[in-house]
Amino acid sequence: MAVAPIQTERLTLRPLAESDIDDVWQYQQLDEVLLYIPWPKRDFDEAAAHTRKRAGLHTLDTDNSAIFLACELDGRVIGDVMLRVSSVETAELEIGWVFHPDVQGRGYATEAAAAMQRLAFDGIGAHRLIAQLDPRNTASARLCARLGLAHEGTLREAYYEKDADGNGEWSDSGLYGMTAHDWRALEDTPAPHTP
Ligand SMILES: CC(C)(COP(=O)(O)OP(=O)(O)OC[C@H]1O[C@@H](n2cnc3c(N)ncnc32)[C@H](O)[C@@H]1OP(=O)(O)O)[C@@H](O)C(=O)NCCC(=O)NCCS
Repeated sequence: MAVAPIQTERLTLRPLAESDIDDVWQYQQLDEVLLYIPWPKRDFDEAAAHTRKRAGLHTLDTDNSAIFLACELDGRVIGDVMLRVSSVETAELEIGWVFHPDVQGRGYATEAAAAMQRLAFDGIGAHRLIAQLDPRNTASARLCARLGLAHEGTLREAYYEKDADGNGEWSDSGLYGMTAHDWRALEDTPAPHTP
């Protein structure tokens, strides 16, 4: 499937492109951004190759296939959001997000993730939408709560992460999820009254 650009209230979401390498590098190089993502610390050339690879992914047709949308604010890519197929057979998709720290705390990640959530359920027909995150990543956990993804459990010591010196530690993985049934119930719930 080809994903057409999505216009949210403040952002344009469109497929990540090779021309986004410099903008993505601005946040991908930051230690605070990498803190809870199981990514290695990349130099510019490695990060560029990583963005180029993600920019070349456009279909959700096999297990582990993924799409990445750049989130543009006034012409600048401030973050990116992902949908990945966990299982074609059970129509389970995983959602993910990364944003530049200098735009955090203003609801942009929630706005972009909510658009991806709608794409997953209404556009693609997902049966389940999940997010996996390090339980210490409280900002991501709050984002899941805002989307209505429930904490379904924690896989203990699910990842082994090595630093540049080869020293590593085990990390837990919090599992958050929402079913298509939950989504329809949320859609049917009237929005809270705002005076
Ligand atoms: C995870 C991450 C995207 C969350 O960013 P964020 O800025 O907290 O999320 P949002 O942009 O949705 O902003 C929400 C915050 O802004 C506030 N806010 C302000 N205006 C808002 C608005 N118009 N709409 C919604 N929230 C708004 C919210 O109250 C919320 O604050 P709180 O979390 O203190 O309650 C960000 O921390 C990040 O990119 N981290 C590094 C990468 C990473 O860890 N990715 C996830 C791997 S699982």
